[in-house]
Amino acid sequence: MRIAAGVERGPAVTFSVDGVAVAGHIGETVGAALLAAGWRDLRSGPGGGGRGMFCAIGVCQECVVMADGVVREACRLPVRDGLVITTRRLRDVR
Ligand code: FES
Repeated sequence: MRIAAGVERGPAVTFSVDGVAVAGHIGETVGAALLAAGWRDLRSGPGGGGRGMFCAIGVCQECVVMADGVVREACRLPVRDGLVITTRRLRDVR
């Protein structure tokens, strides 16, 4: 959830995640924008359950996604308009 008051946000942008449009703001990471949108599962774990951000500082690799065809850490990747994210989910676990 985003803080509602007392924060000046960057311009709004829209990017896509597995073909779904997601709103974000310049200055946020993809991981932060996804958490604010309620999207927590970025890949499937060995047992089939969802996995997502853990450390949020680029250490654990739990948030790895494909961004415009390149493997990136969602917690360190700034959002930008038109960015295309593909998660590594094997099924819809959102
Ligand atoms: S959440 Fe740990 S590397 Fe992104």
